[in-house]
Amino acid sequence: MLIYGKAVSADTRAQLKIKVADFEKKYGRKPCLAVIIVGEDPASQTYVRNKIAGCAEVGMKSLHYEYAAGTPQAEIEKTVKDLAADDTVDGILVQLPLPKGYDEKSLLELIPDEKDVDGFSPTNLGLLAMNRPRTISCTPFGVMKMLATTGVDLKGKNAVVIGRSNTVGKPMAMLLLNADCTVTVCHSKTENLAEITSKADILVAAIGRPKFVTADMVKDGAIVIDVGINRVDGKLVGDVDFENVEKKASFITPVPGGVGPMTITMLLANTLQAALAKAEK
Ligand code: GUN
Repeated sequence: MLIYGKAVSADTRAQLKIKVADFEKKYGRKPCLAVIIVGEDPASQTYVRNKIAGCAEVGMKSLHYEYAAGTPQAEIEKTVKDLAADDTVDGILVQLPLPKGYDEKSLLELIPDEKDVDGFSPTNLGLLAMNRPRTISCTPFGVMKMLATTGVDLKGKNAVVIGRSNTVGKPMAMLLLNADCTVTVCHSKTENLAEITSKADILVAAIGRPKFVTADMVKDGAIVIDVGINRVDGKLVGDVDFENVEKKASFITPVPGGVGPMTITMLLANTLQAALAKAEK
C-alpha cells in the first residue's frame, strides 16, 4: 500500500488554515515565516518557491530574501539578525546547502531557538534527543505523521535508518527511539548493510543515492519510507528502487508525492507553533 504524503499533507494543511485564521483573529496579524536563499541551485529554488506557496495556501505571511552566490556573509548575517529582532517574524529558515565558501554553522547560530522552525539548532536537536521535543526537524516529523496513518503500532519494532545527517538521519532515529522502536542507524561506513536492513520492520532511506535500496535489502512486509529526492535525466527518483521494493513492502512512500510534500507542511506547522508560543508568552 502506498502512503501518499500529498494526501496526508492536504488534510494537515486544511487544519492549519483554520488555526492560522484563528491566530490572525486573536492576535491581529498573520504568522510569518522568513526564508533566505543564497545562490541559484535549481532544486533549492524550487523548494523555496514551494515553501512560500505553502505559506500562502494556509494564510501565513512569508518574507523571501534572495542573495546571489558570492554575496558577503556579513550581509546575510545582518538580515538574519534583523529578522531575529523583529517581533512580527515567527520563523527564520536559511535554505541549505549554502554555496561553497559560506560558514553555515555561524549563520545558523544567529537564528534564535524560538524562531528555528527547521528544528536544526543544537537546543532543538538536543531536546529531541532527551525526548522533550520542542521544534522537530520537518522531514523526520513528517515521516512520523505518515507512519501514524498506517495504523501500525511502532512499539518494539526494528527500525533501520540509512543516513546519519543532523537534519534527517539523526532526528529520524531519535523520533523512532522516542516511539519505542529498536533503532539502528546505518551510514556509508556500515558493514553488511543489507544484512541489517533486511531485518527492518521500518526502513527509512535518507542517503541521497538514486535507487540505492534494492528488493534484496528489504524484509517481506516492511514499511519503507523513501526520503531521497534525486534528479536523474530530469526525473525525480527516490533512494529506493520503487518498482521492485513495492512488491515486498506492506507500505511504501512514492517519489515524488511521498515525503516531500509533508516536509513543507510540517514547516508550516512549526511556524504556527512558534507564532503561538510567542503570542501566548
Ligand atoms: N534543504 C533541503 N531540505 C531542507 C530543509 O528542510 N530545510 C532547510 N533549511 N534547507 C533544506
